[in-house]
Amino acid sequence: MKKNAVVIVGAGSTHTPGIIQSLLQKKDEFPLRKLALFDIDEKRLHLVYDIMKQFINETYPGLEVVVTTNEEEAYTDIDFVFAQIRQGGLKLRSSDEKIPLKYGVVGQETCGPGGSISYGMRSIPAIIHIIKMAKKYSPNCWILNYSNPAAVVAEATRREFNNERILNICDMPTAILLSYSKMLGLDSWQSLDPCYFGLNHFGWFTALYDKEGKDRLPELREMILTSGMTACSDKHHKDKDWQKTWKQYAEIVKDYPDFLPNSYLQYYLYSSEMVAKMDINRTRADMVIEGREQEMFAEHKKYLESPESYKSPLQEFTVFGDFIVDAASSIAYNKGERFLVIVENNGAIPNMPADAMVEVPAYIRSWGPEPVSIPAIPTFHKGMMENQLASEKLAVDAYFENSYDKALQAIAINKTVPSTTVARKILDDLIEANGDYWPTLK
Ligand code: G6P
Ligand code: MN
Repeated sequence: MKKNAVVIVGAGSTHTPGIIQSLLQKKDEFPLRKLALFDIDEKRLHLVYDIMKQFINETYPGLEVVVTTNEEEAYTDIDFVFAQIRQGGLKLRSSDEKIPLKYGVVGQETCGPGGSISYGMRSIPAIIHIIKMAKKYSPNCWILNYSNPAAVVAEATRREFNNERILNICDMPTAILLSYSKMLGLDSWQSLDPCYFGLNHFGWFTALYDKEGKDRLPELREMILTSGMTACSDKHHKDKDWQKTWKQYAEIVKDYPDFLPNSYLQYYLYSSEMVAKMDINRTRADMVIEGREQEMFAEHKKYLESPESYKSPLQEFTVFGDFIVDAASSIAYNKGERFLVIVENNGAIPNMPADAMVEVPAYIRSWGPEPVSIPAIPTFHKGMMENQLASEKLAVDAYFENSYDKALQAIAINKTVPSTTVARKILDDLIEANGDYWPTLK
């Protein structure tokens, strides 16, 4: 079995220990020959490595490990790039959330003017740079990209690279599948074969087949309608704040019982109620800073107290880590496993544009994803998707054309935004907050 060289880009992230843990636990399915950790923030990079190195050494004695802020070193002799960067860090996530809220508009990491347009225009140049470097030093590598906002990023990488050996992915549909399988008493998310269509963070499950070929969606819908979401995914997706999402999830199913939604639709279908529940002085970014990030710093403190005897923490598994390693393994060994991924439509959803980046099931082969084609989608879902797609495409236009007008259109057309006057105010604040992270808009 050939072995793989992986670089994690954005390795200083709080999500990296989960990815490393999955890489180590899946040693038989996806053996490593080298692990590189790369970040532009040297301190954070070493902090994560300090926490994980005992576990790495124990699982893979003698493995080549590279911990670096140098691009050439990071990307040379690599088979798989796992990109999961947050351009501008949690600080700019916080402004993405707070600026729209100031004007009564949804302030969310990946949705609305902050999450989709502001974060999108910040991420695009960073991702393009990473992919160029990766292709320069390892021309045959595969790039698996988690970096958000994945819908906008995927559209940009389509335009720039035709998504050649690039796979854009997101853990949310899989995390939701995990909740479903728990509710149905099944042992893993792989127990259900999902039928699904949408854009990233904007889609619907239409069927869920179990190993005996039975569609369990009707049964699950009844369970949700009577008792709500009684199980919620993995550790990441069950803290106090995420619980609110699962509560709202049942409301979406009550109003739209035909399919089962991606939880992110709450921000588009109940925008004003979501705004009413948000606190401009304490958004999700603050909770992540106080929660997940602090936990990681506390862990590192333990390491510093006794580096010699420190044992890496074994966490509850994360969908985020397992999914990316499974996808890479399916590419590396031509397994053809079925996953929900972001691909160019090309007829998969027959009544959506061919050049839309959509999220659908695909069989993951060595030469890339082979998407499944589905029947034409209903008017309601199509209308919702076309609106959101226009906003995402306009954000990418705004970036490539340095266009203020396109950025304004991207925000104004977004379903979360009530008027052009508000869109303009938000855009002007975002320009200031993003500074050099954004191109100069003309
Ligand atoms: C899900 C999404 C990710 C997103 C994350 C935010 O996992 O798929 O794209 O980044 O949620 O979670 P957080 O706990 O940081 O708010
Ligand atoms: Mn996601």
